[in-house]
Amino acid sequence: MSRPKIALIGAGQIGGTLAHLVGLKELGDVVLFDIAEGTPQGKALDIAESSPVDGFDAAMSGANDYSAIAGADVCIVTAGVPRKPGMSRDDLLGINLKVMKSVGEGIAAHAPDAFVICITNPLDAMVWALQKFSGLPKEKVVGMAGVLDSARFRYFLAEEFKVSIKDVSAFVLGGHGDTMVPLTRYSTVAGIPLPDLVEMGWSTQDKIDAIVQRTRDGGAEIVGLLKTGSAFYAPAASAVSMAESYLKDQKRVLPCAAFVDGAYGLDGFYVGVPTVIGAAGIEKVVEIKLDKAEKAMLDKSIDAVKGLVEACKGIDPSLN
Ligand code: APR
Repeated sequence: MSRPKIALIGAGQIGGTLAHLVGLKELGDVVLFDIAEGTPQGKALDIAESSPVDGFDAAMSGANDYSAIAGADVCIVTAGVPRKPGMSRDDLLGINLKVMKSVGEGIAAHAPDAFVICITNPLDAMVWALQKFSGLPKEKVVGMAGVLDSARFRYFLAEEFKVSIKDVSAFVLGGHGDTMVPLTRYSTVAGIPLPDLVEMGWSTQDKIDAIVQRTRDGGAEIVGLLKTGSAFYAPAASAVSMAESYLKDQKRVLPCAAFVDGAYGLDGFYVGVPTVIGAAGIEKVVEIKLDKAEKAMLDKSIDAVKGLVEACKGIDPSLN
């Protein structure tokens, strides 16, 4: 049986890290695609030259022509521009929407059976546009945001409680932006929900509130430190976990920007929700019970995403 083929559309900071991780995990053969000549070829060769050291078997190649992604099983999209200090993810909308058009058309022409994971920001609007431009089935086009946001939340909680990250699980809903909804009630240390941990005196509400805010600002914190771009290690790791769940039919429960039709009162809209990812793509959207305050926060987040989608339609009328 041949190895799965993984096409990485965009060979920048995240694209290169994705290729390295896919190699180290032996998830399949990698094609890096980019409009910049030499970048995908150079990164592919560099990573391939590390394979004898780390002992992984995965073919690595770089290309500037979409024909190279032919028949890919998974496409991970990072093509576009990242933000600089002072920019919000939404500031990237106009430029990256045009990029999604060419990427969507390239995938439709050469890899129409792929499971497509979008990382390009502003995420919720870009994954919506990518699905429209590519015309691929909605359960096969998904956005990476929740895995990253909940990983940040988990990391900060593990630091606060001084426990292993392995024993912390966390829940984040909504759009990948300032309105994201970290749900403390569904976030636990060894199965104990955060509100109970506060009651037990292991932390304080103020500290949890500060962690929630730091999670919301997690991307901006990295942009502020790097100054020349945005986060790439954690976003790449997050997307790889989604690709792995699809390729190995793991049926992991992962929060993703998925097309939601019916659940959460939505009628056909991309937003961050818990999903099950298996061989069929998004196999299930998990609808959890929300209290009034949580529902209000989610509604606010959905409104923010709707605003971005409307802005996309204004820029490109073919999306209407
Ligand atoms: N087609 C293919 N590749 C493109 C296109 C295009 N139309 N336009 C730009 N690119 C490539 C660039 O040449 C660059 O190599 O996309 C790559 C983006 O890489 P970086 O600038 O290093 O950005 P990165 O940090 O990888 O982030 C990419 O993910 O998290 C989001 O906000 C982030 O939107 C940004 C994206």
